[in-house]
Amino acid sequence: MTVTPRTSTLQLRRLTAGDEDQVREAERELAADGFEFLAGHGGRPFAEQLAALDAEARGTDLPAGRVPATFLVGVVDGVIVGRVSVRHRLNAWLAQHGGHIGYAVRPAYRRQGHATALLRAGLAHCADLGIDRALVTCADTNVASARTIERCGGVLQDVIDRHDNRPLRRYLVPTALLAVGSRG
Ligand SMILES: CC(C)(COP(=O)(O)OP(=O)(O)OC[C@H]1O[C@@H](n2cnc3c(N)ncnc32)[C@H](O)[C@@H]1OP(=O)(O)O)[C@@H](O)C(=O)NCCC(=O)NCCS
Repeated sequence: MTVTPRTSTLQLRRLTAGDEDQVREAERELAADGFEFLAGHGGRPFAEQLAALDAEARGTDLPAGRVPATFLVGVVDGVIVGRVSVRHRLNAWLAQHGGHIGYAVRPAYRRQGHATALLRAGLAHCADLGIDRALVTCADTNVASARTIERCGGVLQDVIDRHDNRPLRRYLVPTALLAVGSRG
């Protein structure tokens, strides 16, 4: 799958065994933002993490609380610049807080349109899964993420309080229109 953000061509693909060094680096960088690069799969040997992601993509052997999901990295010139994860359906927590799509861009590659491209690709995948409107959420203070969601057509539904006193913005984003433009 290829999408064209503002300034570069982002290739999306699954993780492979050769990606470990880049992933470890991305994990360290994202941890500084209080964010997990591997979306719930951190802190284990890489081979186990890859196996868990594969199982999640297939929807088999899911641990309690996990739903089927697709995890893709965005690559520019061979460098992993970010990732997007698409939950195929929502459980109670995702329906309230997590939403269908999560994404992150490594600090050195921000403000180049990559998050927009990653979210668009996630929306295209949601459309393929039959999800017409994706729930996408971000902290009220996360201006960059809110802007990314709005650029992709997100319509703010509400801002809810969380137990950590960090209000959460909840958007619904139509998947069909953007899906057309983001397929390679
Ligand atoms: C949020 C995040 C994904 C944005 O990534 P990015 O690649 O820099 O975003 P883009 O370049 O696609 O920019 C999208 C929009 O946000 C705006 N933006 C990006 N960073 C911004 C910032 N720090 N302040 C204000 N606006 C910002 C861009 O200008 C652009 O809007 P525009 O088209 O109107 O100019 C990135 O900062 C990140 O990974 N943060 C940590 C993880 C995270 O918060 N993930 C989202 C969880 S909900």
